[in-house]
Amino acid sequence: MVSWGGSSLSLVAPTSVCASKIFFYSCVITFRPMNANDARERIHQLTVELNDHNHRYYVLNNPTISDFDFDQLLKELENLETQFPELTDPNSPTKRVGGDITDKFEKVKHRHPMLSLSNTYSRDEIREWEERVHKGLGESADLFSSNQVEYVMELKYDGLAISLTYENGKLVRGVTRGDGETGEDITANIRTIRTVPLSLRGNHPGEFEIRGEVFMPKKEFERLNAERLEQGEEPYANPRNTAAGTLKQQDSGEVAKRKLDCFLYSVYADNLPYDNHFDSLTHAAEWGFKAPSFRDQYIGKTTGIDGIMSFIEYWDQHRHQLPFEIDGIVIKVNNYAQQEELGLTAKSPRWAIAYKFKAETVSTLLHKITYQVGRTGAITPVANLEPVYLAGTTVKRASLHNADQIAKLDIREGDTVFVEKGGEIIPKVVGVDTSKRTSMSMPHHYITHCPECNTALIRNEGEAQHYCPNENGCPPQIKGKMEHFISRKAMNIEGMGTETIAGLYDKGLLTNVADIYDLRADQLTGLEFVVTDEFGENPKRRSMQEKSVNNLLHGVIASKNIPFERVLFALGIRFVGETVAKKLGKHFRNIDNIQQASIEQLLEAEEIGDKIAGSIRQWFADEKNLNILNRLRNAGLQFETQMAEPVRASDKLSGKTFVVSGVFNSFSRDGIKVSIESNGGKVSGSISKKTDFVVAGDKMGPEKRKKAEDLGVAIISEDDYIKLIGE
Ligand code: IVH
Repeated sequence: MVSWGGSSLSLVAPTSVCASKIFFYSCVITFRPMNANDARERIHQLTVELNDHNHRYYVLNNPTISDFDFDQLLKELENLETQFPELTDPNSPTKRVGGDITDKFEKVKHRHPMLSLSNTYSRDEIREWEERVHKGLGESADLFSSNQVEYVMELKYDGLAISLTYENGKLVRGVTRGDGETGEDITANIRTIRTVPLSLRGNHPGEFEIRGEVFMPKKEFERLNAERLEQGEEPYANPRNTAAGTLKQQDSGEVAKRKLDCFLYSVYADNLPYDNHFDSLTHAAEWGFKAPSFRDQYIGKTTGIDGIMSFIEYWDQHRHQLPFEIDGIVIKVNNYAQQEELGLTAKSPRWAIAYKFKAETVSTLLHKITYQVGRTGAITPVANLEPVYLAGTTVKRASLHNADQIAKLDIREGDTVFVEKGGEIIPKVVGVDTSKRTSMSMPHHYITHCPECNTALIRNEGEAQHYCPNENGCPPQIKGKMEHFISRKAMNIEGMGTETIAGLYDKGLLTNVADIYDLRADQLTGLEFVVTDEFGENPKRRSMQEKSVNNLLHGVIASKNIPFERVLFALGIRFVGETVAKKLGKHFRNIDNIQQASIEQLLEAEEIGDKIAGSIRQWFADEKNLNILNRLRNAGLQFETQMAEPVRASDKLSGKTFVVSGVFNSFSRDGIKVSIESNGGKVSGSISKKTDFVVAGDKMGPEKRKKAEDLGVAIISEDDYIKLIGE
């Protein structure tokens, strides 16, 4: 059992719950004992303060506290909640980081169906709609505002519709649109979206529903894709699909890592004190929601078609500068009574319409198809185009994706092709203008050998991409491995970048990551080399001066202190990303144990499945890798974890796999997991045939219970568990 008193200071937590001894790492030093009343008050204070800072930071873009101070307050709240689990509010600001796992999302019927909008790409049809509205309202238009109808124009955010329900100022439910009638309860995931308030401010209705669009900002999409590329994974296609995939993740902790955002666009309440949409929306902003405003020009109000058209025109021109994707403009009749009068068709309201922007397409000449080899050996065909202006930038190249795509569209060198920039950041070729094809035109033959190292390409069954398998001999793959090795999240070698690697590779000074530790000042100082961009263009001369050489060598030396888990990640073993490397470090403690582990033993570590285990074994089976490993070892890199050894209380649970579900009295959620592991058991995230016990706390989900019962897995209570470990 972990001792929290006496000398083991890192775990000291002399509070009432900690004193029950069933308390683990998450308990952080708090020397003043607090009773439940004090705690309740402090939790309330912290919640209000943190909610306020969150709102200032994420919604108003105007923080008044440093990140560090914010984290301190959050930690204090987390600690109190761990000590007093009964006081934890599902809407606590600590829920922003997620952690709740949902087995299966519950179906929820919408109180009002979630309709869609009729939409058009034609401005004339917008004019016709406006005339119809005017006619439809006839006399009542006169009645309301001297023959005028007021319209609100909004951006059409390109994401996913959600419905949020609030009761007494608290978020109680977040539901996807689903088929419009019934959606899925994704509340735990919604709570991680910082711009969705968990507790409201100001004078809001007691009970109401608010709808909006969840999306992934462009920057976050780019960050995520850069991270994926760095880890040798395929980039995601576009922000919308990525947001959709993220929202459906079962682990809300994963959702929290992706910075989704949300704009709200309609309020539904029984006794709203406003008679129009615009006022509701602006007041929703006062309650803490992120709603569009005149200030950012994301919303406009007008009384006629000219105002509508200028809003459309403005955003057609400026949409590419927005920090998120939009796919059109939504125009709504502002007055609620007029909305009601106009009514609905079967699928959509008559009082609103969407004008959709055409994905911008241009046609240009395809000079040549070339091929890029990525860090993992993946081959991407690239269309080299006659430069053409498209959606704010000059495009010279476009992705052709893979061999199937080229064959499907029958794309040939010399063709005039249509290029489009849709949701994707990289333009793509979407078709061929065959009328411009000459009789000389020949179908394109996809390459069979690597353009860099001439190795025969392979294509795995069921995969669209071709690969160059020459991992250790193909220049972009070798350089890519080194780039990954030195990157910030891996060995973080300052003073060394992509250009230096390319230059030193060309000079023969770097052929693999172990060479980095043999570099000497006398080899580097004054060294001159030429660097080009990723397409081998725009050559630039570089020469290494004393200062940059010093920097680089310091960076190399400093990297010898990088912890084992990051070294493991840096090695670039396929599928061993940051998280997997941490789990491996925690479980196996050092590189020798990993090297010697059989597939079965690897599978025993948390989160390691067949694919990862197979890839690790394959990596260690390669002599070249072992040689590099040896040299890195001799260079003095860390090959043993410094993470505290999990304290072994007993082996009572050895060989048993547990799933925990619900809320516990004597343990925090993490606490019970640590308890299981420290008694020799294994914790798994989901129930399967391999599960021995489900420890059921309060509020265990009915789906989980059913699954356990169906599979015949024993469900035990918290008390049973405590008996099991002999407390
Ligand atoms: S109003 C009655 N406003 O577009 C429909 N929708 O098909 C009420 N959308 O599913 C929707 N931005 O997800 C509205 N400013 C906006 C919007 C918007 C995006 C989405 C929404 C809806 C789809 C319409």
